[in-house]
Amino acid sequence: MPSMMKIALPALAAASGAYAACSVSATTTIQNAGDASAIASCSTFSGNIAIATGTTDDISFPGVKKIKGDLIADTATELKQIGASDLEELDGEMMLNDLTRLNAVNFPKLKAIDSIKWNALPALQEIGFTGEVTKANKVDIQNTALRSLKGINIEEVDTVFIANNGYIDEISMQLGNVSTSLTLADNNEAVKVELPNLIWASNLTFRFCGSVSVPSLERLNGSLGLYNNGFESFSAPNLTSVGEAVALVANENLSNVSFPALTKISGNLQIANNSKLIEIDGYPVLKSIGGAFDMSGNFTDVTTPKLNSVSGAFNLQSTDNVTETCKTYKPLKDKKLIEGGYRCEGKLIDPAGEGHKGTKQGDGDDKTGAATTLSAVNGALGLAAMAAVLLL
Ligand SMILES: *[C@@H]1O[C@H](CO)[C@@H](O)[C@H](O)[C@H]1NC(C)=O
Ligand SMILES: *[C@@H]1O[C@H](CO)[C@@H](O)[C@H](O)[C@H]1NC(C)=O
Ligand SMILES: *[C@@H]1O[C@H](CO)[C@@H](O)[C@H](O)[C@H]1NC(C)=O
Ligand SMILES: *[C@@H]1O[C@H](CO)[C@@H](O)[C@H](O)[C@H]1NC(C)=O
Ligand SMILES: *[C@@H]1O[C@H](CO)[C@@H](O)[C@H](O)[C@H]1NC(C)=O
Ligand SMILES: *[C@@H]1O[C@H](CO)[C@@H](O)[C@H](O)[C@H]1NC(C)=O
Ligand SMILES: *[C@@H]1O[C@H](CO)[C@@H](O)[C@H](O)[C@H]1NC(C)=O
Ligand SMILES: *[C@@H]1O[C@H](CO)[C@@H](O)[C@H](O)[C@H]1NC(C)=O
Ligand SMILES: *[C@@H]1O[C@H](CO)[C@@H](O)[C@H](O)[C@H]1NC(C)=O
Repeated sequence: MPSMMKIALPALAAASGAYAACSVSATTTIQNAGDASAIASCSTFSGNIAIATGTTDDISFPGVKKIKGDLIADTATELKQIGASDLEELDGEMMLNDLTRLNAVNFPKLKAIDSIKWNALPALQEIGFTGEVTKANKVDIQNTALRSLKGINIEEVDTVFIANNGYIDEISMQLGNVSTSLTLADNNEAVKVELPNLIWASNLTFRFCGSVSVPSLERLNGSLGLYNNGFESFSAPNLTSVGEAVALVANENLSNVSFPALTKISGNLQIANNSKLIEIDGYPVLKSIGGAFDMSGNFTDVTTPKLNSVSGAFNLQSTDNVTETCKTYKPLKDKKLIEGGYRCEGKLIDPAGEGHKGTKQGDGDDKTGAATTLSAVNGALGLAAMAAVLLL
């Protein structure tokens, strides 16, 4: 209990009893508006504040400018409003979890917060940080009814995780760097993402986004992942190096990728299941890949004219004819510039990722289930085409 002693002594030394309530060694629990107003006399409150699960009153802490601790409301299913009209700084976590009726979060002067952790707030449509939070280390917002992230505008951050907020259709932040990761996933499928000032980040992951703009991005020391996005083109015009992997997977409308300045990928370059990506010419200066070169899809042409080092395997599989493309990569294998295994093959029914072999068109003697089914489909189409000709 040494920490309790440390706080208790100066509190006792203070003249008034009310002052003692401004500092608690662990957590103070608020049951109702009366409990909250007792704290309102503290300009700085030290300790954690938790809202009791049975709280039905609106809770506010006017007068409190700073909280040195966490503010927690967990499973207070009747709570409708929470706020602190004068709060400027919260140096712990604002944890709002599973608050089914919460419809207003009012912190008009809040500028700095260590961590925002919100989950399961189905009635909350606005962030309510009307003065804009400009400093936060972690932002984790999931399963809310938020319409936008208006109110959070930070320049540097450790982690951002924004997921399953079905109404958010625009995310625009002045972020300059992300030291650990930024993940935007499963929000509104049309979400327009704009990170105009982002220069470096560790991991960037975008899932189910409508558009993504990262015009200033120069460096990633982690990975870039683009999964299931709806956009037709993606461009990282200033990106020069990636410390881990680049993955472009299952972006059904993607037909143009452009990484005009990217010279080095230290992990894998994986491209798979982007049905409309036919031509890959967006890596004009890419020299080295520290992992595998792994592409499968409906390609006709793949060109990476400056590539001269692949430390892992090389896999390029396509439904189309890539004979000419393969002719440009075979010499890299022959010169041992590709260190891992080598497979470059076209006219496959089911082009597969590294380590897997797709089925060749017309492989009548291949008895694998997938191949049989797909050949059967092809056969049926063939018959339909013949029938159409006969009808003429
Ligand atoms: C991160 O971005 C902020 C705001 O742009 C900047 O002040 C800071 O120097 C950057 N930090 C690093 C390590 O780049
Ligand atoms: C970055 O992404 C890679 C690949 O997806 C993953 O292995 C790694 O753990 C991630 N790192 C962080 C800090 O999220
Ligand atoms: C891209 O990089 C160039 C050269 O470093 C720089 O002049 C330009 O401002 C950058 N573009 C953006 C949008 O940041
Ligand atoms: C990424 O780079 C930044 C700045 O150089 C550094 O602070 C961070 O620890 C690095 N992260 C990883 C995963 O290497
Ligand atoms: C792909 O484009 C089609 C046609 O424009 C559109 O209907 C569909 O929603 C898009 N896919 C995604 C995942 O956005
Ligand atoms: C692909 O995108 C790049 C960069 O946005 C653009 O310059 C280029 O014209 C696009 N190519 C096609 C075929 O649309
Ligand atoms: C691509 O799609 C196929 C078929 O749905 C699936 O088996 C495979 O795992 C997908 N590849 C990746 C890299 O997600
Ligand atoms: C090739 O295109 C077809 C038709 O758009 C699509 O069904 C299939 O999944 C694509 N294959 C790959 C590997 O992207
Ligand atoms: C693929 O294209 C090459 C030349 O580009 C041609 O010689 C070859 O016959 C084609 N292969 C198939 C299976 O169509």
